Amino acid sequence: MVNITHSRMNRFNYKTWTRYFMANDKKRLQIDFSGEKELTEAEKKLIFPSIQAFQKGEGSDGAFLMRAVEDFAYKNHKEGYIEAMRQFVKEENWHSAYLKKYMDHYGVKSKDRTFLDECFRKLRKLGGIKCEITVLVTAEMIALTYYDALSRCTASPALKAICAQMLHDELPHIMFQSYTLSQIGNGWFDQVLRVFFMTATLLTVWIAFHEVYLHGGYNFSRYIRENMGYLRQSIFLTRQSK
Ligand SMILES: [Fe+2]
Ligand SMILES: [Fe+2]
Repeated sequence: MVNITHSRMNRFNYKTWTRYFMANDKKRLQIDFSGEKELTEAEKKLIFPSIQAFQKGEGSDGAFLMRAVEDFAYKNHKEGYIEAMRQFVKEENWHSAYLKKYMDHYGVKSKDRTFLDECFRKLRKLGGIKCEITVLVTAEMIALTYYDALSRCTASPALKAICAQMLHDELPHIMFQSYTLSQIGNGWFDQVLRVFFMTATLLTVWIAFHEVYLHGGYNFSRYIRENMGYLRQSIFLTRQSK
């Protein structure tokens, strides 16, 4: 598990976050399939159901999210948040595009809807920006262990490169969302809700995709320990002064 609490990025404001996302956008991954050997049927069966689910989850036009962001930003005189969030949504759409490209290479179709994605989208819309960001950052924390496990499921160099890029990008996302939660205000009740929501999501993801985790070196106890560790760090960051 990576310690994110000491990163210099935790001192960023929305202006510096925007600059970071714009600079990161210039370093997009070019997926190289030249060293790719055909995956076995067993490998395809193992990895693609979860890749389809994450590909759907990563991509969004962000329209509903951006409305909540604008509402919060204008009311609280934090207009800089709007551009930072636009850049963030752009980056997430790149993530979806990387996975789509990989699926296309193997002739795997993307899913219009997945159970997990539907749940996340419905939950995010339950209430305002705090709800949106809480759900979003929970998915991003779980993504860290997922992409780490996924990268070890096969010898595919293209998939390893995609997973490395995801891990590189998602760590700052957690700091970015935690910063926003610190701006919105996070009381003890919100933190209890976050633990509850994380627990429910972890169990759902484990039931759906435990094979990927097991092949990637995560047993149930490591999976819970690392994800709860990231949640602890995120809650610690949200308690930092505004
Ligand atoms: Fe992502
Ligand atoms: Fe993310």
